Amino acid sequence: MSRYDLRGRQELEDRIRKTVDPEQGRIPMFVYTDPDVYALELERLFGRTWLFLGHISEIPNPGSFVVRTMGEESVIVGRGDDSVVRVFLNACRHRGMRLACEDFGETTMWRCPYHGFTYGSKGDFLGTFMGAPFEKVAYPEGLDRDSLHLLEARCETYRGLIFATWAKDGPSLEEHLGDVRWYLDLIVGRAEMEVVGVPEKWVVPTNWRLPAENFASDAYHTATAHSFLSRLGMVKGVDFGRDGYHIDPGGGHGLGVGVHFDDESYFPAELREEYERNLDAGQLATLARLKNMHGNVFPNFTFLIPNFIEIEGRRVTGAMLRVWQPAGPNRTQVWAWHLVERDAPEWWKKLGRRMYTQTFSSSGMFDQDDTENWEAQTRTSDAALYRPEEFDLHYAMGLGVPPLPESEFPGPGDVYDGKFSESAARSYYRVWRDHLLEDGR
Ligand code: FES
Ligand code: FE
Repeated sequence: MSRYDLRGRQELEDRIRKTVDPEQGRIPMFVYTDPDVYALELERLFGRTWLFLGHISEIPNPGSFVVRTMGEESVIVGRGDDSVVRVFLNACRHRGMRLACEDFGETTMWRCPYHGFTYGSKGDFLGTFMGAPFEKVAYPEGLDRDSLHLLEARCETYRGLIFATWAKDGPSLEEHLGDVRWYLDLIVGRAEMEVVGVPEKWVVPTNWRLPAENFASDAYHTATAHSFLSRLGMVKGVDFGRDGYHIDPGGGHGLGVGVHFDDESYFPAELREEYERNLDAGQLATLARLKNMHGNVFPNFTFLIPNFIEIEGRRVTGAMLRVWQPAGPNRTQVWAWHLVERDAPEWWKKLGRRMYTQTFSSSGMFDQDDTENWEAQTRTSDAALYRPEEFDLHYAMGLGVPPLPESEFPGPGDVYDGKFSESAARSYYRVWRDHLLEDGR
């Protein structure tokens, strides 16, 4: 079936409607690597919803830009000469050549490398003699400059996080994020944050959704897949990922908050005043007990405060952001950012960098474990496409367990006691199914 085969598409929608059943804790294996599911996702999910593109500290000056991807489309995220952040399709209006061929930089205008059409930093086609080479000779009738404006996405920011969507109307970014904002504040809003270096990128032969749902909802795997942490003596037991809360804040987002039972906060005392200025009382109380936090903003933006570990006698963690960038049904480009408080003490910055490279990065020990699982699951899914019968996966952990009463936890959403649950994964698939079956016509 091609994406233009309407009868085949109807069959695919019916199959999704019938078999993707998070209410019963059942998800069929074909949804991971079926090329037609992937084509539907590019159109109805990545073509419409809010997507994370980068952090504001990556483009500090007028003219700064970075190149990112929405779905499979290259986009320029840039600050105009008026300092406003805009997002453009990285494609010339003449024949579609990429305007920015580098990953990042600073510029006052975009000049196409093919025939030389030139655009200003606000996406406007420049004036006569500037916009097109030999314009009077090549276009004696003149050019309709307005129709040559770069295609522009809707762009909004939250606490320094830059998002964009191709949907002309629909929910605002705040509406899309909803209650997950309270938790995002703990990682990117607690202080003025800045990215450390450029984002790391690597390719994993997996479907993009396997890591996204893992970070949204799967604390259970840590006791087995990451048991090395306990064996190396870096934490006390393999159950380091169990104590805390499993949280479904709605919207397909999901997270887990791990807590410790010590009296003192693990975060540096030097930053306490800044945290107090930026967080409310409930957030401060949560931060004081926090020993790890993992989550995913629907559909593919992950945030992480890894479990604190001891380095050089100090407890340390880092802040990380990730995008699981689809690059085909069974191929994902991982984007990973490490962030730190701009005014943090030097020891926290230095040990945090070490922690980041040792645990979660292309060289990280956690990533070695996780990648092997996601890759093998993807191969299972590829092979299962040829099975005559549906192959259901088990998503029933915590089914029927009620959330805690609101008085038990200061944060919003459905909050479950203990991190071992698959509630957030079930919500993820409810929202995912709704997006795929909503054709927008
Ligand atoms: Fe850009 Fe021709 S493709 S000027
Ligand atoms: Fe993991």
